[in-house]
Amino acid sequence: MIVLDKERKLITLHTQNTSYQMKIWDYSVLLHTYYGPRIADGDLSCLLRPWDRGFSPNPNEAGDERGFSLDTFPQEYSTCGVGDFRLPSIELELPSGSRSADLRYAGCEVRSGKYALEGLPAFYGSEEDWQSLSVRLTDTAAQVEVELLYGVLEKYDLITRSVRVTNRGDRSVKLCRCMSLCLDFTRADLDMITFNGAHVMERCPCRSPLHPGFQSVESVRGASSHQHNPFAVLCDRNADEDHGLCYGAMLLYSGNFLAAAERTQFENARLVLGIHPYQFGWVLKPGESFTAPEAALVCSPAGFGQMSRQFHRSIREHLIRDPYRGRRRPVLINNWEATEMRFTAGRLVQIAQEAAGLGMELFVMDDGWFGARNEDNAGLGDWVVNETKLPGGLDALVKRLKALGLAFGIWIEPEMVNEDSELYRAHPDWVLSVPGRGPSRGRQQLVLDFSREEVRDHVYGQIHAVLSSTEVAYVKWDMNRSLTEVWSAALPPERQGEVYHRYVLGVYDFAERLRRDFPQLLLEGCSGGGGRFDGGMLYYAPQIWCSDNTDAIDRLRIQYGTSFCYPVSSMGAHVSAVPNGTTGRVTPMETRGVVAMSGTFGYEMDLNKCTPEEKETVRRQTEWFKEHYELIQNGDYYRLTDPFQNGPYTAWEQVSPNKREALVSLVTGPFRGAPPLLALCIKGLDPALRYRVNGEGSWPGDLLMNAGYPLPLLKGDYRSLQLYLQAE
Ligand code: DGJ
Repeated sequence: MIVLDKERKLITLHTQNTSYQMKIWDYSVLLHTYYGPRIADGDLSCLLRPWDRGFSPNPNEAGDERGFSLDTFPQEYSTCGVGDFRLPSIELELPSGSRSADLRYAGCEVRSGKYALEGLPAFYGSEEDWQSLSVRLTDTAAQVEVELLYGVLEKYDLITRSVRVTNRGDRSVKLCRCMSLCLDFTRADLDMITFNGAHVMERCPCRSPLHPGFQSVESVRGASSHQHNPFAVLCDRNADEDHGLCYGAMLLYSGNFLAAAERTQFENARLVLGIHPYQFGWVLKPGESFTAPEAALVCSPAGFGQMSRQFHRSIREHLIRDPYRGRRRPVLINNWEATEMRFTAGRLVQIAQEAAGLGMELFVMDDGWFGARNEDNAGLGDWVVNETKLPGGLDALVKRLKALGLAFGIWIEPEMVNEDSELYRAHPDWVLSVPGRGPSRGRQQLVLDFSREEVRDHVYGQIHAVLSSTEVAYVKWDMNRSLTEVWSAALPPERQGEVYHRYVLGVYDFAERLRRDFPQLLLEGCSGGGGRFDGGMLYYAPQIWCSDNTDAIDRLRIQYGTSFCYPVSSMGAHVSAVPNGTTGRVTPMETRGVVAMSGTFGYEMDLNKCTPEEKETVRRQTEWFKEHYELIQNGDYYRLTDPFQNGPYTAWEQVSPNKREALVSLVTGPFRGAPPLLALCIKGLDPALRYRVNGEGSWPGDLLMNAGYPLPLLKGDYRSLQLYLQAE
């Protein structure tokens, strides 16, 4: 619910459990007065006290009112160069050469439904579920208008934000910074949690108290990156899974981003989130607008668990689009870890045969099916079937798979090109490169300038032909290097600051074309695993390959970190062979299945090499997953332990919304002598119900929740256990 109180000059956004308030203050400065647990009514500006602070300037109109400073009051959208020295949200380069922005309130509007952002991913939904607010701010001297957009999804405590900047003057201005979100706090005793890592070890949480000055994570790699994720949490110092106030902020964007927090001199805090200002500069001609990507906030007064569940519900129901919204995804078999690029049609069919017999539904042919692609130094850019490997083309293979009862999926990497390719030989000028400098290589490949329409058209034409040539149910869209030499031959010097963002818009345009032309296609995002795992890609691809690291024990950590924002149904996860290719670790097949099942679930190995017992395990796992899909993928998710604490086991849980069913999954660490006999407290149950556990006993919900379930002693390393609870 959005309430406009004209008399008190208040704008208040209410969700089921939270409230968010801004106030039009003196001189039309828009202040942020509150975000936290829901309050019925009230003007929270009573918490703000004017105070004359040294070296905090006063706006010109304030005259001798020395208590009024942009530097000390919490701002709804911070400005720059006019008295607020904290993290700016916007920076404009004006025709005069001045780099500043001074914004004042000019009006607002509320409507039912959710605003949309042209060419950009955004949460969506019905008029019943959503309300939108548009707040207009103007910089009179610069003749620039800034529209702050808010969407309120009351039932899931989600508040979305975006910003549209329009040049209302008659000369060009340059937008040098445009954050999607600015959130001021009148306190600084907060911790910041960010999700960091590397290729094959993504999204590991790191928590640290806000210290004076700035702390931030970012990507300047052209993609959201393995190293940091565009999602951050600010929380009470003692917040945990079930207690404490916490604020999660995600950016629906797949390119360079900045998530920065500042603890200020007067013990306040500010969080900004948006496109990274690094090499960013967008020219706005008279009348032109720029729209910042969407950010989304959840405030949870009851710890991280509730915050995550609200994000999960919102993403599953209001970001993932049809036809895969809530729908079961096929259990797949992927050939990559089994064959890499060295395969023939016969070898693929061999793997497929075994997989089909064990209940799998989709065969995914990974990298190596096109052009002269036998190693990673050739072929990218030539999206034409290699008939030496696949005689009779894709159709012949698809017919054989179909006869086995399997649908067909294929791998692509549309943004890239090898120098050894027909495409590069014909269009060497289509890659990102700086005049006079040879472009850097990454995995022996160069980056196509996806900011250019003709480049996208050409690649899309080829891929469209492939996808139209036979029945393709699934596409894995990979992206295997970071962007360098980000310069486009198609843009004049003053517009080179637009290339990074135009590239991302190009990626979204390409993805949207795939959705338009192949509406039933299941798209899986991928960037060397989880290098572009973000809310932006999820709008187009309902699932994203979580990591190239398929080791079950490392995956416990990767999937744990990922789950703070993203739902199980978005995490690409497969069972692979042991010893694991990345870690060399050997884990039981049961354990690998239990871990991959809390993801989209599939296998990535040659099942012909499994023992009969292992095959039986695979068959059972696949059957179990299909039967309990709804609970596993769409249930409420609880993290029961933190795998980074190196405890005796890692456990997590899914509970059905009506609390009549739950699945607890548990994986042990290395076994040690003299083990304790432990009980595991199960969360989210109905204390008044009684549950059967794996079909046995009659356990009161309150007992399971408060005293716990006695865990059996599992001897051996990395063992696993699943407890299936059903209400009587
Ligand atoms: C990186 C991906 O993450 C892998 O799964 C695989 O598709 C390879 N690329 C293929 O080149």
